[in-house]
Amino acid sequence: MPVRDLRKIEEYIDRLRIKDRDSEDFKIFSSVLDTSVLKTLYRLSNKKIITAMGGVVSTGKEAHVFHAVGERGDVAVKIYRIETSEFHRMEDYIIGDPRFTRTKFTKRQLVYTWTRKEFKNLERAFKGGVSVPEPISYANNVLVMKFIGEDGVPAPTLKDISGELPGIIDPEELFNELITQMERLYRIRLVHADLSEYNVLWFERPFIIDMGQAVHTEHPHSMSFLKRDVVNLIRFFSRYGVRADVEEVIERVVK
Ligand SMILES: Nc1ncnc2c1ncn2[C@@H]1O[C@H](COP(=O)(O)OP(=O)(O)OP(=O)(O)O)[C@@H](O)[C@H]1O
Ligand SMILES: [Mg+2]
Repeated sequence: MPVRDLRKIEEYIDRLRIKDRDSEDFKIFSSVLDTSVLKTLYRLSNKKIITAMGGVVSTGKEAHVFHAVGERGDVAVKIYRIETSEFHRMEDYIIGDPRFTRTKFTKRQLVYTWTRKEFKNLERAFKGGVSVPEPISYANNVLVMKFIGEDGVPAPTLKDISGELPGIIDPEELFNELITQMERLYRIRLVHADLSEYNVLWFERPFIIDMGQAVHTEHPHSMSFLKRDVVNLIRFFSRYGVRADVEEVIERVVK
């Protein structure tokens, strides 16, 4: 990397106020941040959407999530990885969606479109009264939304609390609540398409996250995605003795 770029990185990092450069967080941060991501973060920091980066919340194959602070309070910053993204899987969820008509992409363009798609999905869901983190902004492969959790610690997923779930909320009630959320999504013509205990955070109530792959109901596979979501929920809740029929639940969602 040219020295000039390195200096720029230093400047960006100072600007983002990352203090402890020996911390694990900083190591992860530097491993995901190339100049392109840093420039994007810099743009967001100019708009005060991010004023200080916090710790790493999650590192995955597709995206890294960080806690940060901005003008709007605590935010989650989801940075999609360009290289490891599953190009063909992403294409399957974009092509066929009437909102995204372009069909030829470079890898980078596809990931940027994916990020914009997640933002648009969140925005639509949030306005439609679905319990999702409020979307705040996006640029390139960086998505910023309200942070669900406290003191930089993210709220647990349903998977994380699966052992103690009945002590927290009646499983039947939570199952019905999630079906209601799916109904609302469907009413605004969206199907989540990756709904499971891994993509629901519990913070006094359920929050549905990870909406990148959510598709318009006109997508040719929307019904099979919907069925898969319903099957996932029924499977998870069956361990608490909740019984439901797949077809009946689907009917309830699409009615
Ligand atoms: N708004 C948020 N507030 C707090 N934590 C969040 C938020 N969004 C995501 N997270 C945390 O980041 C984790 C991963 O987020 P998400 O499910 O959106 O990414 P992902 O696409 O599954 O990433 P990968 O597939 O690469 O693991 C979540 O399980 C949660 O811990
Ligand atoms: Mg996820």
